[in-house]
Amino acid sequence: MSRSKSSNQWLKEHFDDEFVKRSQQRGYRARSAFKLEEIQAKFKVFDQVDAVVDLGAAPGGWCQVVKNQVDDNALIIGLDLLPIEPIEGVEFIEGDFTSDETYIQLMTLLNGHKIDLVLSDMAPNLSGVNATDQPRAMYLAELALDFCQQTLNPNGHHVIKLFQGEGFDGHIKNMKQVFNQVTIYKPKSSRARSREVYAVAQGKK
Ligand SMILES: C[S@@+](CC[C@H](N)C(=O)[O-])C[C@H]1O[C@@H](n2cnc3c(N)ncnc32)[C@H](O)[C@@H]1O
Repeated sequence: MSRSKSSNQWLKEHFDDEFVKRSQQRGYRARSAFKLEEIQAKFKVFDQVDAVVDLGAAPGGWCQVVKNQVDDNALIIGLDLLPIEPIEGVEFIEGDFTSDETYIQLMTLLNGHKIDLVLSDMAPNLSGVNATDQPRAMYLAELALDFCQQTLNPNGHHVIKLFQGEGFDGHIKNMKQVFNQVTIYKPKSSRARSREVYAVAQGKK
């Protein structure tokens, strides 16, 4: 298929997509907001949550869902490589989660405040070469789990996007050492042909 044909097909699929239509109606910045809504409906991860960090937050769809789910005075921090249009009551950090500088900025903003929920929808820019994409995705997941160990309250939760492939099983095993329950979940709003799934980890030990 020629390049223009395949990109036209992508655009058609995108606009025909039920979740794209629904996100426009609901004022969500990204269709991925529905994935977090589905996760909340099934796992109730927002119950009694006062502080949330959202890693890989741009353009802000998940932060919009978080805002609707938690109390007005809850602490919400979104972090991304890309700039994000402001959302009232959400603090944003623009930076690379793998860099020490950004990590220090995040820890400084937290100022010792413990978190109840760490979300990560981070995905590296995919090159299409699985041998390099998969390790980069797993590295982000490992850093997110380290961050959970350092900052999550006992009983806190972690929701993370993972790609099935090399390193996946090992990472789930590591998550099970940190959390009481880890469930792998594929929301209906996640495209069937995508290798992505979500790991919902509940009850930090
Ligand atoms: C699928 S998008 C997130 C969509 C978001 N959950 C929403 O609902 O709007 C993945 C994001 O991960 C970010 N990302 C990838 N690697 C990152 C890194 N090292 N540090 C920070 N953000 C990163 C990308 O810039 C991208 O915006």
